[in-house]
Amino acid sequence: MQMTKGKQLYEGKAKIVYATDDPKQVIQYFKDDATADNAKKRGSILDKGSVNNQIASHLFQLLEKEGVPTHFIEQLSDREMLIKHVEIVPLEVTMRNITAGGICRTLGIEEGIVLNPPVFEWHYKSDELDDPLINDDHILYALKAATVEELALIKKLSIQVNDFLKAYFAERKIDLVDFKLEFGRYDGQILLADEISPDTCRFWEHGTRRKLDKDRFRRDLGDVESAYQEMLKRVVG
Ligand code: TMP
Repeated sequence: MQMTKGKQLYEGKAKIVYATDDPKQVIQYFKDDATADNAKKRGSILDKGSVNNQIASHLFQLLEKEGVPTHFIEQLSDREMLIKHVEIVPLEVTMRNITAGGICRTLGIEEGIVLNPPVFEWHYKSDELDDPLINDDHILYALKAATVEELALIKKLSIQVNDFLKAYFAERKIDLVDFKLEFGRYDGQILLADEISPDTCRFWEHGTRRKLDKDRFRRDLGDVESAYQEMLKRVVG
């Protein structure tokens, strides 16, 4: 599709959003920049932007077929995705199938415990506050960030995404440990937005538990680029 890239609307830690000649559509550009610990650690992962765009584009298309509405319209190039111009709901959903990262720190439990049923968390999307863990009452009555109906729908869609992705990755010999989702409002609808990639998920190779995600960068484990390439091969290849 011929699409004119307009002015930059927003630059985040890993992506830039550009206007197009249609106000209802924007271009999401994926950078190689990597941050961790709320940008206290900064670096770059070679070709991460390309890998994440390809993985996210592929997964969004599969999820659409499963009945999960997403902001994805079309992959325009290596690093560019055409998306619906949503208003992001200032919440981050975390779904956890195995303990790692935040839940281990918050609850003082060890990494690698299987969570069945999975654990669902709301976080308030705020860099200043370090994306704190919050509950429904915080969202509805303190922040007034979403309605009861929106929360119910986001939770239902997140569980649907987890059920699908867990099985999809299992077929590829990958344990889906956890992931973060963001949603947006568009024409009265709630759409799955942002990205699904090794930046926003934890992936462990089944059996060996080798980490194939951004934890290699966060924890200075080495072989970061090859882990991203391995995930691209397993997802798209
Ligand atoms: P956490 O264990 O640090 O809370 O992270 C849970 C999942 O969410 C993990 O797969 C990484 C992802 N995540 C993001 O995508 N962005 C973030 O800002 C954070 C904190 C986590």
